[in-house]
Amino acid sequence: MQTIHSISGIRDLVRDLRARDHVIALVPTMGALHDGHLSLIRLAAERADTVIVSIFVNPTQFGPNEDFLKYPRELGADLAACQEAGADVVFTPSVEEMYPKGFSTYVVEDRVSKPLEGASRPTHFRGVTTVVAKLLHIAQPDLMVFGQKDAQQVAVIKKMVEDLLIPVEVVVGPTVRESDGLAMSSRNRYLTATQRKEALALFQALSKAKEMVEGGELRADRLIAEATHILSDHRRIRVIYVAVADRDTMEAAREVTPGKSLIALAVWVDEVRLIDNFLL
Ligand code: PAF
Repeated sequence: MQTIHSISGIRDLVRDLRARDHVIALVPTMGALHDGHLSLIRLAAERADTVIVSIFVNPTQFGPNEDFLKYPRELGADLAACQEAGADVVFTPSVEEMYPKGFSTYVVEDRVSKPLEGASRPTHFRGVTTVVAKLLHIAQPDLMVFGQKDAQQVAVIKKMVEDLLIPVEVVVGPTVRESDGLAMSSRNRYLTATQRKEALALFQALSKAKEMVEGGELRADRLIAEATHILSDHRRIRVIYVAVADRDTMEAAREVTPGKSLIALAVWVDEVRLIDNFLL
């Protein structure tokens, strides 16, 4: 496995791989890798000749009071994990090279990115689409792999790829969970043991909603009320949103359309912000 720090280094490599007809997969990450990321790298390796994993804590997707500075950075452990999971190349650009001085161009998806996460983190998706567009231009992959855990991010990126006619396939891997159901997330490591216990309420709330749907309850307000009730029963949890929405447009739905809808939620567990979702 190679580690490449510079944009020109990746461009040279990609030129060579393309000349040899390699199928290239890109797995964009911010590092602090867990089994969820590793499952995406393995998925990429099944589909491509060369898997490039990018590790870049992207400053533009963090709001002014968010955790950019304290976001975990563990390059040594991440490189070992990438190698183990089957990555061929790890790309670790610097902030200075990705956002040179005077940088003033952004990519903005203007609809799918607005509700839910977009409502509480107004500049988040602009940062995500901008960095992903840059990574696409640098690595020119045939496919790019994301996790369903970030359901709205998946929908926004698919829309950007469609709208900007970018020739890349967006592949989505299922959410990987701890044995008790908590969705894996780099931010889980901020949780104390007590908060970790409370965080299980996200999975419980989503599971209850899914059970209700399976029992024939399709009214969004009933599902949201029940999930909110379960979350609110936990002293450390503050609900940011619970929503039933179309999985592609993220528009709120009044009724579940099986196969089209999801239930998504975001909460604070004390000062740790967590999200999760279930496809319905
Ligand atoms: O999901 C993430 O880790 C980030 O949002 C991404 C896609 C790597 C862009 O910085």
